[in-house]
Amino acid sequence: MLISAQDISRRYGAADLPFFALRPTSLEIEAGAFVAVVGASGSGKSTLMALLGLLDRPSSGRLLFEGRETTALRPDATARIRNRRIGFIFQQYHLLARMTVLRNVELPLVYAGESPRNRRRRAEAALESVGLTAKFHAMPANLSGGEQQRVAIARAIAADPVLLLADEPTGALDSTSGEGVLGLIEALNAQGRTVVMVTHDSGVAARARRVIRMRDGEIVSDGPADPETRHPERAAS
Ligand SMILES: Nc1ncnc2c1ncn2[C@@H]1O[C@H](COP(=O)(O)OP(=O)(O)O)[C@@H](O)[C@H]1O
Ligand SMILES: [Mg+2]
Repeated sequence: MLISAQDISRRYGAADLPFFALRPTSLEIEAGAFVAVVGASGSGKSTLMALLGLLDRPSSGRLLFEGRETTALRPDATARIRNRRIGFIFQQYHLLARMTVLRNVELPLVYAGESPRNRRRRAEAALESVGLTAKFHAMPANLSGGEQQRVAIARAIAADPVLLLADEPTGALDSTSGEGVLGLIEALNAQGRTVVMVTHDSGVAARARRVIRMRDGEIVSDGPADPETRHPERAAS
């Protein structure tokens, strides 16, 4: 099992008046899975993603990543797992405006301790795989939204992670660019990478094989995606 979460929760606020962004929840994500997380705004989707990605720690429970219990690890140990094993894609790309495309993709490899030569080679290969060979030296501001998101995908996969976490990756894109990004994410999953993707679009969710539905900080359903709701033509709407 890639991830095994046992009764994880995330609580905010004072002890006498707690607010649960995520109520105690157990779930497992197997290696190679393609999971969509859906639910209304504020239902806890990003909270769950932050916990699965070791960006945040649960207020209770245990979270095993590749069989290793992570909740008691020191921050540098979780950072090491994050840098090497997990790639993140966000709705707003989060590229550094003052760096070229190539430097943006190389940056996480710096944190992963790669040599300059390997960094360059892996960043170029990642950019090639998302179709951006011609944009190595462009600045992010000179790219379209879809291109910027493809740079973000290249950055996410440059260190060859086992898990890709995408929070509304098509949320800021027009339907054509969104479809391109979704196609890339599907291809990465087909190559064996585990994908967990937040979306509010049922057509996008139906592209996954498993759909987790959240409401008020709880998982209210978890099962196979319904191919009936699959509408590629409006996938990124
Ligand atoms: N740092 C925080 N402090 C307090 N409340 C938070 C914090 N982060 C998220 N929340 C609350 O937790 C709930 C779930 O948030 P979130 O996981 O971002 O929802 P979603 O991604 O589904 O829109 C919301 O009510 C949100 O306001
Ligand atoms: Mg969110």
